[in-house]
Amino acid sequence: MALAATWKVPTGPGEPGQSTQRKGQPEDAFPAPYASPDAARAANNGAVPPDLSRVAIVYPGGPDRILALLTGYGAADPQDKPGIHANGFYNPYAIGHRTAMPPPLRDNAVVYADGTAATAAQEARDVTTFLAWVSSPHADSKRRLGVGVALYLCFLAILLVILKRRIWSHVAK
Ligand code: HEM
Repeated sequence: MALAATWKVPTGPGEPGQSTQRKGQPEDAFPAPYASPDAARAANNGAVPPDLSRVAIVYPGGPDRILALLTGYGAADPQDKPGIHANGFYNPYAIGHRTAMPPPLRDNAVVYADGTAATAAQEARDVTTFLAWVSSPHADSKRRLGVGVALYLCFLAILLVILKRRIWSHVAK
């Protein structure tokens, strides 16, 4: 919530000539790093990186496969024959086993405040956990609400059974 609020989100045209903004919320999409798809393509060897705001929901295989994708580079490419280099990077967890995304993580790319060793695998786990959270930012509160509703319905059901027995208690069986 606090992190999202550090970003400003345009709320569309207000008065003529003025654009209004509000603080970001967890359910907003990530701000696009490129001005246009063409700019994205130009900066990434012709491929447009996807919007990762809901990637843990929309990527087939979900967070488990994203984690595997981020840590799955480096295996020998079965299509790489001497003299022939296929486009992109071989990754057994990418769709079609090939992706235009270069390995985005490396050891010691960040420093953890608590001294955790910053291996690429640890970074991948943290990034994936974050992406899973932002893909469904209200999952925790919904789950809590669901448990509350289920308990309430159980209580109501017991109450109704007791009430029914009391109401019909004078009727001979
Ligand atoms: C840890 C941060 C990152 C995560 C979690 C991430 C995640 C993903 C995912 C899940 C995909 C879709 C899978 C695919 O199309 O193969 C993707 C695609 C892509 N990413 Fe990343 N990415 C990250 C960082 C980067 C960086 C730093 C770059 C640029 C240097 C980049 C460039 C791309 C491109 C160009 C694609 C499209 C690949 C294609 O169409 O084949 N990504 N990314």
